[in-house]
Amino acid sequence: MNSTDIQLDIEKVETSRIDQVDFSNLQFGKQYADHMMYCDYIDGEWQTPKIVPYGPMEFEPSAKVFHYGQAVFEGMKAFKDDDGQIWLFRPEQNFERINKSSKRMAIPEFPKEHFFASLQALLKLDQDWVKKGQGNSLYIRPFVIATENGVSASESDRYRFMIIGCPAQAYYNKPIKVIFAQDYSRAADGGVGFAKAAGNYGAQFYPTKLAKEKGLDQIIWTDASSHEYLEEAGTMNIFFRIGDKLLTAPTNDRILDGVTRKSIIQLAKDNDVEVIVDKVSVKYIVEAARKGELKEIFGAGTAATVVRVEGFEYDGEYFDLPAIDKPYGTFFKSSLQDIQYNRVEDPHGWTVKA
Ligand code: COI
Repeated sequence: MNSTDIQLDIEKVETSRIDQVDFSNLQFGKQYADHMMYCDYIDGEWQTPKIVPYGPMEFEPSAKVFHYGQAVFEGMKAFKDDDGQIWLFRPEQNFERINKSSKRMAIPEFPKEHFFASLQALLKLDQDWVKKGQGNSLYIRPFVIATENGVSASESDRYRFMIIGCPAQAYYNKPIKVIFAQDYSRAADGGVGFAKAAGNYGAQFYPTKLAKEKGLDQIIWTDASSHEYLEEAGTMNIFFRIGDKLLTAPTNDRILDGVTRKSIIQLAKDNDVEVIVDKVSVKYIVEAARKGELKEIFGAGTAATVVRVEGFEYDGEYFDLPAIDKPYGTFFKSSLQDIQYNRVEDPHGWTVKA
């Protein structure tokens, strides 16, 4: 990242907590790096970003985020290469998307210089929290919340933008089982499905809990009006392999424009794998599974990276997807990680030095 002239207020921790963390046994999103950033929006302006020790913050119970869920977030990762250099993967995409999400949620856009100067400072202070080695990363969570006090149902006039980071390994440590949604929906036309609005995720927890009670891990959401087309899963976008072709749903009002999704589409093109970005019909996928033509399903997201789906339930029937030789999922995951850990050339200029 280019250094910027943005002034930050920095208060460093007196003693790092890093020695209390067992990096060989991380639970996703449970341990946090020493520092965090926050920046308030007051009187129509973003103030000076502050970097402080990670810890609790105080808000009044009437803060609007608690009542109306006016909040958006991002997920991004930093990786350390074998020489100890830290790299961010396509951070511009996350910056652009958080502002796109903010706009839809009537939250003021965050200045680019503030975003990148804060990331750079955080990664310098917390560089030891980014571990070397396959699978290790620092998961970075920028987010914005509405902080004006008052329960009137209107957009806030105060906000807090924050960045926290947690050392991460796999989000899923084994292949997952999914269910194709028949009754519940994730997002509707004209709604906020394309945004990383906090409520998009909270609203999925109940149907996902029901799926988990049946021994499944995730839901693949179908379109809200007909439930005939597969869209995305709760924590990631989703790809299907029929024969040698890869199929994924196009992004729209309802589907998140995932950074991992678009990177895989590009990698597929680079490797002469035919990718069809088109509506994915449930009937077609179920039929393909019956005929043995459905070779793979895998999810793709920043937290999840790439995860194999080992089977799915639809309409009370379970379909197994046995592991195959040379799966695309494994190939795309390792191609992506080779770039992220700076092990190979980065032909698209996706990685950015921290
Ligand atoms: C991410 O992959 O970064 C996400 O935001 C998904 C989240 C539900 C963990």
